[in-house]
Amino acid sequence: MKKKWDIKDESFFGIGVYQPKTEHNIGTLWRSAIILGASFIFIIDGKYKPQTSDTQKTWSKIPFYRYDDFDHFYGTLPYSTQLVGVEMDSNSQSICTFAHPLRAAYLLGAEDNGLPQAVVDRCHHLIQLPGESSLNVAVSGSLVIYDRVQKWELKQ
Ligand SMILES: C[S@@+](CC[C@H](N)C(=O)[O-])C[C@H]1O[C@@H](n2cnc3c(N)ncnc32)[C@H](O)[C@@H]1O
Repeated sequence: MKKKWDIKDESFFGIGVYQPKTEHNIGTLWRSAIILGASFIFIIDGKYKPQTSDTQKTWSKIPFYRYDDFDHFYGTLPYSTQLVGVEMDSNSQSICTFAHPLRAAYLLGAEDNGLPQAVVDRCHHLIQLPGESSLNVAVSGSLVIYDRVQKWELKQ
């Protein structure tokens, strides 16, 4: 008999940053990511060395991918996985009404310049958090993951 999969068996997510600048911030994001259930983490066109802010040593527990550029990353997105850009943009949907895809890769922008338009244009979804001013990148990523987790848990 065909197994009936639980929704949790068919979902996963990863989170990463495009051209990250402050490694300490990124360590903080990795810490949230693994504690809240990420399956992979990544950076695109940036450097990262293990930071004390990543108390979980996330890189030792789930894959940490490093991509040379956006095309490299996009070409290796896991099968059936939607790219969710996280950015304050006139085309962004509020996260409050967003239904997270079962399989998602969340992409945040650099601390100084955010996500460039060319990257924004290639995201399957674009979401933004409430507020008039931009938040810290690690805080933004942590809030996005929290939103995903609490929405899926309400559905169980
Ligand atoms: C410090 S912000 C970049 C600010 C940059 N000076 C700008 O205006 O685009 C770094 C990243 O955090 C995320 N971010 C910050 N505030 C956000 C918000 N309200 N909604 C969605 N993403 C946010 C985005 O991914 C953004 O690229």
